[in-house]
Amino acid sequence: MPEAQAYNSLWQVRTDAWSSLEESAAQLVLAGSQDHQVESLAETIRGLLDVLGPIERFWAFPGTHSFQKARRLFTAGKYDRFATLVSGLNRALATDSFRTSPAADLDPDDDAFDRVVKPMEQVRKDRPYFEVLIVEDMTEQQELALLEEMRQWRRPDDPFTYEIVVLHSLEDALMAARLNFRLQACVVRRRFTHRSRYDSSSLHQFTDLLVADDLMHHPPDERAQMLARALARIRPELDLYLMTEIAVEDLAGRLSHHFRRIFHTREGSLELHLSILDGVSARYRAPFFSALRSYSQRPTGVFHALPISHGKSIVESHWIRDMVDFYGLDIFLAETSATCGGLDSLLEPTGPLREAQQLAAETFGSRQTYFVTNGTSTANKIVVQALVQPGDIVLVDRNCHQSHHYGLMLAGAMVTYLEAYPLNHYSMYGAVPLTEIKQQLLALRRAGKLDRVKMLLLTNCTFDGIVYDVTRVMEECLAIKPDLIFLWDEAWFAFARFHPVYRPRTAMRAARTLIEQLRLPEYRQGYDAQADEIGPVDAADDDTLLSRRLIPDPARTRVRVYSTQSTHKTLTSLRQGSMIHVTDQDFSQKVEETFHEAYMTHTSTSPNYQILASLDLGRRQVALEGFELVQKQIENAMRLRDAVDHHPLLSTYMRCLTTKDLIPAGYRSSGIDQPLRSGLPNMIKAWQDDEFVLDPSRVTIYIGATGIDGDAFKRGHLMDRYGVQINKTSRNTVLFMTTIGTTRSSVAYLIEVLVTIARDLEASLADMSPAERAGHEREVLRLTSPSAPLPDFSGFHPSFSGGNGLPGAPTPEGDVRRAFYLSYNDSYCEYLTQEEAEQRVENGDLVVSTTYVTPYPPGYPVLVPGQVFSPEILAFMRSLDTPEVHGYRADLGYRVYVDKALEIAAPGTNSRPEAAPETVRAPTTPQAKTSKP
Ligand SMILES: Cc1ncc(COP(=O)(O)O)c(C=O)c1O
Repeated sequence: MPEAQAYNSLWQVRTDAWSSLEESAAQLVLAGSQDHQVESLAETIRGLLDVLGPIERFWAFPGTHSFQKARRLFTAGKYDRFATLVSGLNRALATDSFRTSPAADLDPDDDAFDRVVKPMEQVRKDRPYFEVLIVEDMTEQQELALLEEMRQWRRPDDPFTYEIVVLHSLEDALMAARLNFRLQACVVRRRFTHRSRYDSSSLHQFTDLLVADDLMHHPPDERAQMLARALARIRPELDLYLMTEIAVEDLAGRLSHHFRRIFHTREGSLELHLSILDGVSARYRAPFFSALRSYSQRPTGVFHALPISHGKSIVESHWIRDMVDFYGLDIFLAETSATCGGLDSLLEPTGPLREAQQLAAETFGSRQTYFVTNGTSTANKIVVQALVQPGDIVLVDRNCHQSHHYGLMLAGAMVTYLEAYPLNHYSMYGAVPLTEIKQQLLALRRAGKLDRVKMLLLTNCTFDGIVYDVTRVMEECLAIKPDLIFLWDEAWFAFARFHPVYRPRTAMRAARTLIEQLRLPEYRQGYDAQADEIGPVDAADDDTLLSRRLIPDPARTRVRVYSTQSTHKTLTSLRQGSMIHVTDQDFSQKVEETFHEAYMTHTSTSPNYQILASLDLGRRQVALEGFELVQKQIENAMRLRDAVDHHPLLSTYMRCLTTKDLIPAGYRSSGIDQPLRSGLPNMIKAWQDDEFVLDPSRVTIYIGATGIDGDAFKRGHLMDRYGVQINKTSRNTVLFMTTIGTTRSSVAYLIEVLVTIARDLEASLADMSPAERAGHEREVLRLTSPSAPLPDFSGFHPSFSGGNGLPGAPTPEGDVRRAFYLSYNDSYCEYLTQEEAEQRVENGDLVVSTTYVTPYPPGYPVLVPGQVFSPEILAFMRSLDTPEVHGYRADLGYRVYVDKALEIAAPGTNSRPEAAPETVRAPTTPQAKTSKP
């Protein structure tokens, strides 16, 4: 009997139940008259039918009628026919063949054939199939009549085909939106009940339905509106239609914008049918891909660059013809530099590219979306250049991707680094706590510099899967600084938009939520109540502001949010395909032009069309099947977690890190240690309440007990021996990322590989001499003991620090650009070995880095240009056993500034500062002092 594990979706339970049903039905036929076997098989089948009963009503295929038919055959003891029908249905489901050719799987003698299969035979084989939900309380006869009526409109050249699911209640409709990933449209009719007439208690662990009973008594239009709103929250991509008997002209203006169209019931169903097809066509359209495809089929004469265009330099070649054999000709037919002939210019799009970007904006919930053809590394630099002027203060997570460090340096920003909470046991960082951000903003306020603070830049989710409460971070920061701009680096989070639990924690959804909330009278009242309690935020003291959740002033707040996403990392796109999404209330007045300049600065004048076309198709895919793909991705991740944690051998050496391991309890007000494993409602609660949550699709496996460090595990075992590619390791962990491309088979292969590694380890342990064994145990001890603490940011040298020589109290921002470019003069720089640097710091000298020093892993700079060395940084560097340290030369050591350079760099004066700057955060021991002239 398939077991419903809490995190599993019903899809898996359903698939497993159908397979078991087919198997048991076949056995039942074979068992013939062996009574005891028949009885036990019949018992199993009854159980399976009971599992499937509540689920099948949400799907059009095989549909309630066929399911009931199967049940009747079983109850009547017609086991042969029962087995034939079940086998046909299961095979159609398992192979997805019902989408195109159901007749191949069903028995034509069966009396289900005429009703189930015949209508579907009209389906053209090559066109996509979807399902449409109709919500109305109707009798079975009315339902069958409606299905017939809708089917009569099918035409051979329809672009798609669909089948209909009818459900009677609001509760059922919401469950269907969660469970049936084939739904693309929903028709709400006026008469539907509130509660389901079926017992759905077995399904509640898979859903998060809280259908308040008081809604039941609202007038039908309001209830239709509520249903539309709730459906849009779960599945914003669904096309919603309203069919009503009352004056549609009156309703049209009043009803929710969630409805794509409103129809009068008496108008009949043809318009509805055409609208349903049109709605899906709108999402299916991929204007740039289509333009490129038609262009590639036209003969051209190329008299400018790009000899590869139309494969011309290849097909006649004697030496590189294997290039066409490998890639196929189409990719070269589509290689062009044309911006005419139906194509478009990325730098000034007016045609299909512009349209493709608009469609992406709709799908990703932004106001503007821009395609980027060289990764989020470039997307980040574009956004920073568009918004930040030299001297503007930017708050940034120090553990952010290197593109931000370089982007901020190029922009001339005064950078304030924020500290993420450390996870010393795993040699990782978590994310930046909100109190850290507020403290830095308040310090800048005390220093009179709040007006210079331009942007907060955070990575969501982090590489290791820590996810912020995006709305709360923005609300509280906007309470202190109402025009703060946010750049959320969502390089790893493009997929999150397509799952209802993840979506509220994405930048674009949070921005929209904030804009909507700020307009509500209740929100204004909340702000007024806060003002009554603590007075205006501008006048409140730091302790008060740090101790409570802050509400921004709706009258002053501007919502200005940017997100950058590596589409290629988590969705379908060729490598380097990224997008910038914008929801900025001031974009057209303040940013559009500088954004254009920044885009021109960083974008090639020869953008790769294949990447652009793949972005267009990647968008089409998620607009139509994003929900299904992301849900399956999560399931695969949970399968991987289960397999590792429950395998007797694997669990001896490895363990999947959980929310509890990676997010300290203080950041989890829900108190839930393993949100997804304890059921969807718990996951939803944690994702609503907690400051940080863990993205379940990223699986970090702790391997300390193997005695193999992360890097050796990755290179020596996973990659070289088994071809398993992974991206990130720490000293004692390896990170496995599941994506929409992860299959059940790839998960199974990984488990097999891990088990083989564990078996090999057991075998080699058994053969070890006592001395070798002791060596192994020492290694295990080293890997399982906490590492040297990850060092905090020590501070900028006064010559580069914003706190020095400027009015107001010192604050920790620094001018990385000045510190970086000063080192272009070799005579200002020298190299120090680790020992020399330690000696200098011990003497109390301020040793200042000229460059970024980045050990990998963890991959974040422990020193940036202009930063002073601290004993903690040097201790950390000494304890490192990672092979790569960028910015440190093994033969020469650290590149640092000579004193003369620091004197010259001192702002406004050639004299050197006398005392240790207050801006240097980490106390050095002994007390820091300036070095001798
Ligand atoms: C947080 C973050 N931002 C940006 C990037 C750069 O993305 P891309 O590889 O698309 O240039 C990465 C790459 O790993 C990243 O981890």
